Amino acid sequence: MNRNVLCLLDGLIAFKEKILREVTACSLYTANYPLLIEHILREAKLYRQTITVLEEKGCMPSEELKKSELFWNQIMMEHAMFIRGLLDPTECELMQTADDFVGDYCRLLEEARKQDCRTMDELTIKTLETTEKYRDFKAAGAEGITLCRIRSVILPLLADHVLREANHYLRILKNEGRR
Ligand SMILES: [Fe+2]
Repeated sequence: MNRNVLCLLDGLIAFKEKILREVTACSLYTANYPLLIEHILREAKLYRQTITVLEEKGCMPSEELKKSELFWNQIMMEHAMFIRGLLDPTECELMQTADDFVGDYCRLLEEARKQDCRTMDELTIKTLETTEKYRDFKAAGAEGITLCRIRSVILPLLADHVLREANHYLRILKNEGRR
């Protein structure tokens, strides 16, 4: 099954790379941001890396916390950028909250880059607290979009997707914290 998944992933990665190339060369138009295409490409590559290790070693890689935090803080920051950019301009308060999360994750990224592994603990706690608040914001957003209480061009499936990724990241942070 892993080998089948790797084969599918190679095709999916090549497809996303082709779309990104054509969108950035202005030979293909899509309503998706180029950054969103880069973002889902990075996610597919991380998944490919995980499956490769699983296939070669027979167990899940224990993700190195700093590397993992840098990856997912970047992903969380970009989600906030997408949310901000896809909300209706009248949703000023939500845009401001999304913007605040962009700033929070940007600062967490800067701090993580500066620190070595020994001093990560405090930062991981801060990341966990921020991501719990962010997960609640995304959950409220997904509900508001589904119940037609928020004006936006965000597809309900995208709102659900970013919520699931915040939950995934929380699981990684909590598991790593227990090691
Ligand atoms: Fe994502």
